[in-house]
Amino acid sequence: MTGAGHGTRSAEVLAALAGVIDPEIRRPITELGMIGGVTVDEAGKATVALKLTIVGCPAADTIERDVREAAASVDGINSVLVEVTVMTKDERAALTETLRGGRARTLQFGPDSLTRVYAITSGKGGVGKSTIAANLAVALAERGLSVGIVDADVFGFSIPGILGLEGAKPTQVDQMILPPIGHGVKVISIGMFVDGNAAVSWRGPILHRTIQQFLSDVFFGDLDVLLLDLPPGTGDIALSLGQLLPQAEVIVVTTPQPAAAEVAERSGLVARQMGQKVIGVIENMSGALQDDGSLLEIFGSGGGAEVAARLSRGQDEPVPVLASIPISLQTRISGDAGTPIVLSSPSDPAALALSTVADGLVSRRRGLAGRKLGVSVR
Ligand SMILES: Nc1ncnc2c1ncn2[C@@H]1O[C@H](COP(=O)(O)OP(=O)(O)OP(=O)(O)O)[C@@H](O)[C@H]1O
Ligand SMILES: [Mg+2]
Repeated sequence: MTGAGHGTRSAEVLAALAGVIDPEIRRPITELGMIGGVTVDEAGKATVALKLTIVGCPAADTIERDVREAAASVDGINSVLVEVTVMTKDERAALTETLRGGRARTLQFGPDSLTRVYAITSGKGGVGKSTIAANLAVALAERGLSVGIVDADVFGFSIPGILGLEGAKPTQVDQMILPPIGHGVKVISIGMFVDGNAAVSWRGPILHRTIQQFLSDVFFGDLDVLLLDLPPGTGDIALSLGQLLPQAEVIVVTTPQPAAAEVAERSGLVARQMGQKVIGVIENMSGALQDDGSLLEIFGSGGGAEVAARLSRGQDEPVPVLASIPISLQTRISGDAGTPIVLSSPSDPAALALSTVADGLVSRRRGLAGRKLGVSVR
């Protein structure tokens, strides 16, 4: 008999599989613990045990095809059987650990970071989170701070549009993603990675990985402030961010409707359960001043104060209402046009209210001062 024995041949197949890259993690699948084993029988049939990270992995077809091709490319292999399974929880944990170990993929805004992280959250959709996040970001940048924003609303991403970055694509250098800059703010959004208006329907683990990647692979540099624009409610993304950035401080947005208070309170409570601190409530879409001087309260009144009062229970310091932002046509128009209202019409009442919040955030010093440390002094 000439040539390699079966054992050597399976080693050759394994070596070939090292050339298969996981399209999402962008590392060889052999480094990720995705190959459970390789055997080659006498007839030259290779059997490869492939372990996908999650059920319904969208890259499954690609990976399986690449595995098949890589194995078939080895001399003496006549057929390939790929047995697909899914990693166990422990195997997935080990994989996460491997990824964390790489310097290029470490979280940039961990608890030791000097960057202040503010998460803009709400119970209900459409209350103005993205508008507020974008306006605060540009207002802080205008005040000389180095600012980044993560559009964590992967289903309803809107930050690129509001910041005039429709269609912008980040430049990628190896594993480093360079965020586009809109009005002086470094912006990253899932909207920059999907084509056109394609629907994004990802499951929890992929969402988690995406957010984690935003926080590790995107080159934000040395930021004073990072803003997170969250999707409405308390879903997977809010939980992932809570896990990844427990030191983030949370601003809850609500409308003046008292009926919305309960659901808004819930988003604050979940954040607090994750260890994040709620630093204030912004009431948006408050009364609009009419030409005759009267106030038109389309969404009623009192919602912001109600949410702040509810969230103050169970927290040492009371939670303040940071601002009531009136409904203003110009706010909507400038958002649609890609230049937030604090820049396009700074004297508009909504812009003034947003600027007041930005001033308040600037006066909170950058750094670890005032942060709760993980020790208690008796
Ligand atoms: N104060 C305001 N006056 C007028 N229009 C506003 C105001 N705040 C927000 N809007 C408009 O309301 C709409 C919803 O705002 P936005 O997208 O910021 O809400 P959201 O909470 O981020 O929504 P979603 O939950 O879908 O992410 C947008 O068209 C925005 O321009
Ligand atoms: Mg939004």
